[in-house]
Amino acid sequence: MWKRLFNTTKGNDSQTDKDIFSHLEPDKLPAHVAIIMDGNGRWAKGQGLVRTAGHRAGVSTLKQIVKSCSDLNIEALTVYAFSTENWKRPPAEVEFLMALFSEFMDKEIEEMVRDNVCLRFIGRINELSKVLQDKIANAVERTRSNTGVKFTIAVNYGGKDELIRAIQTISSKVSGGELDAASIDDSIVDSHLDTAGLPPVDFVIRTSGDIRLSNFLLWQTAYAEFWFTSTNWPDFTPECFAEALYDFSQRERRFGGLKEKK
Ligand code: IPE
Ligand code: IPE
Ligand code: MG
Repeated sequence: MWKRLFNTTKGNDSQTDKDIFSHLEPDKLPAHVAIIMDGNGRWAKGQGLVRTAGHRAGVSTLKQIVKSCSDLNIEALTVYAFSTENWKRPPAEVEFLMALFSEFMDKEIEEMVRDNVCLRFIGRINELSKVLQDKIANAVERTRSNTGVKFTIAVNYGGKDELIRAIQTISSKVSGGELDAASIDDSIVDSHLDTAGLPPVDFVIRTSGDIRLSNFLLWQTAYAEFWFTSTNWPDFTPECFAEALYDFSQRERRFGGLKEKK
């Protein structure tokens, strides 16, 4: 059904991303897409490669999906690159991932500046290496005034950790007399999260078959729609993305209210 709708097949080079997306109605797209980019290791295993080859392949996928978001005028894309739990992995894999982030910053920054991408990071960035922190600060600064897709990378990020940090800041404001406890509401919590200024997450995509959040954006996904696919992240093409977005566009979001009268 999907192939028929899009009149395209995987690997058909003449089919540009814009053609793939032309079937999507702009006003039915999510403002904020969050992606749990999972399955790099499983992809590599399936190819007879080492896990790190999967992470490298995953970077190519990410570049394509950022471009897709730009083409579709999606306001915000947030991706999960490294969780607060991922430090449990073998040191060699952690080291490789940190080196890959560093390489990504070096290689991609010019293109992001040019493509009007506004890059930002969430998570405990201050615990990363000084070199990586400097590259992140430089990239954020250079893309700060860009008005295109707000592309956020979660590194050393945990949803619980983010909430704990927000609670600490809010409670110190309360004890300092700067904030009245009774005035704490949704918007005050929002504004103390790493994602302050971004719209709520409308759509969460997780690749590679696991059906869980793994501590990603716990507060921000309160009313999100979810899409799980068995496709591993390195194989997730713009066409897969379009399929997910089409499904999102067909959903009825009620937010606790009733079905809209037709
Ligand atoms: C996701 O792929 C990338 C990171 C968590 C850094 P994985 O490395 O988790 O791949 P699988 O889940 O083992 O296949
Ligand atoms: C979630 O994937 C984190 C990232 C994609 C960065 P994991 O592979 O770490 O999650 P679990 O361990 O399967 O929950
Ligand atoms: Mg995984």
